[in-house]
Amino acid sequence: MRHDVVIIGAGPGGYACAIRCAQLGLRTALVEEKKVGGVCLHWGCIPTKALYAATRLLHQAATASEMGIAFAPPAVDVPALAAWKERVVGTLADGIAVLLAKGGVSLYSARALLEAGPRVRLSTGETLEAERIVLATGSAPIEIPGFPFSDPAVWSSDDALALAEIPRRLVVIGGGVIGLELASIYRRLGSEVAVVELLPEILATLDLDRRTISGLRRSLGAQGIKILTGLQATDLVRAKTPAAGGEVLVSLAGSDPLPADRVLVAVGRRPQSAGLGLEAVGVSPDRRGALAVDDGWRTAAEGVYAIGDLVAGPMLAHKATAEGVALADTFAGAAPVRFVAEEIPQAIFTDPEVASVGLSEKAAKERGLDVLVGRFPYAALGKALGMREPDGFFQVVADAKDHRLLGVQILGAEASDLIGEGALAVRNGLTLESMAHTVHAHPTLPEGLMGAADHALGRAIHTANR
Ligand code: NAI
Repeated sequence: MRHDVVIIGAGPGGYACAIRCAQLGLRTALVEEKKVGGVCLHWGCIPTKALYAATRLLHQAATASEMGIAFAPPAVDVPALAAWKERVVGTLADGIAVLLAKGGVSLYSARALLEAGPRVRLSTGETLEAERIVLATGSAPIEIPGFPFSDPAVWSSDDALALAEIPRRLVVIGGGVIGLELASIYRRLGSEVAVVELLPEILATLDLDRRTISGLRRSLGAQGIKILTGLQATDLVRAKTPAAGGEVLVSLAGSDPLPADRVLVAVGRRPQSAGLGLEAVGVSPDRRGALAVDDGWRTAAEGVYAIGDLVAGPMLAHKATAEGVALADTFAGAAPVRFVAEEIPQAIFTDPEVASVGLSEKAAKERGLDVLVGRFPYAALGKALGMREPDGFFQVVADAKDHRLLGVQILGAEASDLIGEGALAVRNGLTLESMAHTVHAHPTLPEGLMGAADHALGRAIHTANR
């Protein structure tokens, strides 16, 4: 079968690329071995956000008496919650299927293998030929020695999001994005949660300022999540007296073991390039499994492209989608859009949320830049107080020379939505003045960004100037 483009992997990178290719009039095939929508839709972003919203509501209901509203203690029907999450996922999956069908994308449910040519051999026996082949196979959770995912007591993020049970004690290995998001959800569902992080600080692989991390750490601690940093989990031991301590013990190098009923391993993800037949087309992944591409997402093999988690940059759904769409546009003759890693916003769905874009104050200084920094507390926003969300702050970092915004960090309610304004400003080189002089509606949370920009300029009204 001959197409203009064959895309392998129907996650947020691959399916968006397919829809855009079809819009451009290219005969497009999309091959997926599991589910259209990929990890983001079925085992990542979307189920996490559904459970995040549900458990936040649980917390709000349980604490609403402060506002004069009393509920009976809320109860969780776990199978019903899991079914609701699946309905959210299902609605979106159906929507993507309709978009692909309407666009005229040929969808193949099969495993794909590259062959010399290059062409694509499917596990169903068919062979697809195309001028261009796009690899968008994403990433998979990393397994660590001593904690095999085949052990029923060991969970990957997929297992945690299946929501089959609420363990009495959950130990999370890895204080990164996935570890902290799932720790927050399970804590609110009633588990005793401890997070073990190898590095001296949580979220250490991200460019976040100390103040942001310490603020989050304080809030997570107040929710009862135990955070243990600078410790390595080495082994899993079956407990002798399960009833007393939990089913297993997590051994820690240089510290007492932690009892657990389930152990979630969230120590990062690795590009899923193995078993794709890359050797047949002369492409060699690096040690991590990532593929090298040029600024038009071309691999070393003529006509073979790669996007998303398979290539350099943050492993984020929105980055993969942006690359997929931009790559499709290049097939129709457009110049490749350039995405700078730090201009891609990051949102972490803990409570409070964390979101950032651009450079932290520390990273900007390390680059030798002279910076202006402005901050504004949530506690000074009428809207935040009315929402019972006084914790957190907005921070802007700008170049002292020309006031160009270099970075924005937000710790607090709805930070994931609020970072959009920061992303627009940083990507487009807007200045502190452009943020401060844009009239923001009152009373709203984005006023905090305006306030932080004013603060950096030394003209804050609702907070003390330095
Ligand atoms: P991560 O890289 O964010 O965090 C992994 C953490 O595990 C690191 O802090 C690392 O030091 C620690 N670690 C590694 N080995 C360890 C060990 N043996 N013992 C204890 N700690 C150990 O990776 P994570 O959380 O698995 O997420 C994977 C990717 O998925 C990330 O790139 C993230 O950006 C992306 N993601 C993004 C989300 C979002 O933007 N909201 C949500 C979920 C995932």
